[in-house]
Amino acid sequence: MRIGILTGGGDCPGLNAVIRAVVRKGTMFYGDSVVGFLEGWRGVVENRTLELDLDAIAGIIHRGGTILRTSRTNPARDPDGLAKVRRTFEAQRLDALIAVGGDDTLGVAHWISGAGLPVVGVPKTIDNDLSGTDLCFGFDTAVAIATEAVDRLHSTAEAHNRVLVVEVMGREAGWIAVYSGVAGGADVILIPEKPYDLEAVCELLRRRHARGKYFSIVVVAEGARPAGGAGPVTQGATIDAFGHARLGGVGNLLAEQIERHTGYETRVVILGHTQRGGTPTAFDRMLATRYGVQATDMVHRGEFGRMASLQGQTMASVPLAEALGRNRKVDDALYELATVFFG
Ligand code: F6P
Repeated sequence: MRIGILTGGGDCPGLNAVIRAVVRKGTMFYGDSVVGFLEGWRGVVENRTLELDLDAIAGIIHRGGTILRTSRTNPARDPDGLAKVRRTFEAQRLDALIAVGGDDTLGVAHWISGAGLPVVGVPKTIDNDLSGTDLCFGFDTAVAIATEAVDRLHSTAEAHNRVLVVEVMGREAGWIAVYSGVAGGADVILIPEKPYDLEAVCELLRRRHARGKYFSIVVVAEGARPAGGAGPVTQGATIDAFGHARLGGVGNLLAEQIERHTGYETRVVILGHTQRGGTPTAFDRMLATRYGVQATDMVHRGEFGRMASLQGQTMASVPLAEALGRNRKVDDALYELATVFFG
């Protein structure tokens, strides 16, 4: 078969491991040829490609980013988008396309699948909030990076009797915040699912001081917001091709408010794209490899319009529609566990 592959949306440690797995399983096991599209859906619309033979994928499993590069191009915004995608399928004589991405990239995959094109999805987001699967690759790496940051910030916070607010990624769900916060021993963790009460946060910090602890670590997800209806903090009015605002800055707001309300000196660290950069953990390389092999097998079984999915410990597949339009949130029980360690 002739298989295409693209990586779309924000990059994520493990993307190269997926590409490598598709090429290895496809070429060595099935006798396929694999072509990569450059910069997400933009490469499909413009038919810009990189031929993916065994040499092209040698030595990439440990590398962050994606050798295909990525973009947030949305062909559905172009009135000729679908026709252009079809033309590329024909020009490349594609039998199938594997789209590796999050809600937006897979939404486009679902759209072209509805138009009859053979497509298989692979779920990807460091936020770990895609529905239809239990775990996304890249999340483990992001948690490891954020946890190391929280670990390191403990000693400087303690040396200065400071509160340190650490802002991590997580637009709609606070998975990175909860995992890195609990693992790193944070004193308060704030997530989008649970709008926070500033006074309650300050009270937890005062309680620590009353116990003789003069420093605190607060981990906050970028999408966290105060109770009372205010939206998440955004960086200006920029909106991407899928209509998403650029988040970031809730940590600054919180640090300023905590200092003002408690009188404790407070600093903020925004981890930002550090969480997405660099080498994937062994766990993410393994998970991404499993997703790549599963997607290739799905293509050969003709399971189109579906997404590779981890269910418990097992690889499975679900309709693409199951991944779309709703985020997988941190459940109440897990957040309750985190609160045991607050204050
Ligand atoms: O969805 C993954 C994510 O890392 C979010 O946590 C974050 O808000 C967004 O991507 C940032 O995207 P960009 O690469 O456009 O800055």
